[in-house]
Amino acid sequence: MKRYCYILLLLCSAFLQADHVGLLVVATGRYIHFVEPLLQSADRHFLPNQDVTYFVFTDQNIDFYDRVARPIVRIEQQRLGWPYDTMMRLAMYHVHADAYEAVDYLYACDADMLFVDTVGDEILGTLVATQHPGFVGKRGSYETRPVSKAYVAPHEGERYYAGGFNGGKKEAFLALAQTVAHNVEKDLDQQIVAVWHDESHINRYFIDNVPDVMLSPSYCYPESWQLPYHKRLLALDKNHSEMRA
Ligand code: GAL
Repeated sequence: MKRYCYILLLLCSAFLQADHVGLLVVATGRYIHFVEPLLQSADRHFLPNQDVTYFVFTDQNIDFYDRVARPIVRIEQQRLGWPYDTMMRLAMYHVHADAYEAVDYLYACDADMLFVDTVGDEILGTLVATQHPGFVGKRGSYETRPVSKAYVAPHEGERYYAGGFNGGKKEAFLALAQTVAHNVEKDLDQQIVAVWHDESHINRYFIDNVPDVMLSPSYCYPESWQLPYHKRLLALDKNHSEMRA
């Protein structure tokens, strides 16, 4: 009897064991100021039942390790200038694939975001996308030049996704990162910058590789908008030109 109890306990613990999840944030230059509040909000609300490590890509000093509960891994990343700081993000994630060896899932969010309510296990999936709050039920702002690798033809594209929050199982996310990195590079060879940078390429990828989890705009909710969704992950208002300067 004792032996059966022990086996049952082992089985249960195998099922209940938390997954290891990496949250990727690129914050070069002044964007570093968003990171401490972002990670503190993630401590409270982001996958509270899982083991989470934060990966911060930055050229800045991190002085808030002690004020964030979960581990932070700093990855040195030079500032590339606008729009490369955003557009090259998938290449940055791809290049540092070795850093997430112990991780089962990877999620990436913009630095200027804030978790305001639980973002829980409902987001765990193989390939996870978030519906863009500006284009629900409308055609998205896809890249329309056929010369770009991000091109979406008029007959393609059902849902337009936000570049601000996406992820999935590590292998699936890194496959996305590798493809987008490659396609951005191909575009640059042709002197092409897709209309919405990494977001355009991610949308192309999600047409070819349909996400199994499609999150509502609750997970990329612009701070000052009024939408019929519950607020979970806010995209903060910011003065764009000031931040890019
Ligand atoms: C805006 C958003 C941009 C981009 C764009 C796509 O609302 O601020 O980052 O996603 O929509 O049309």
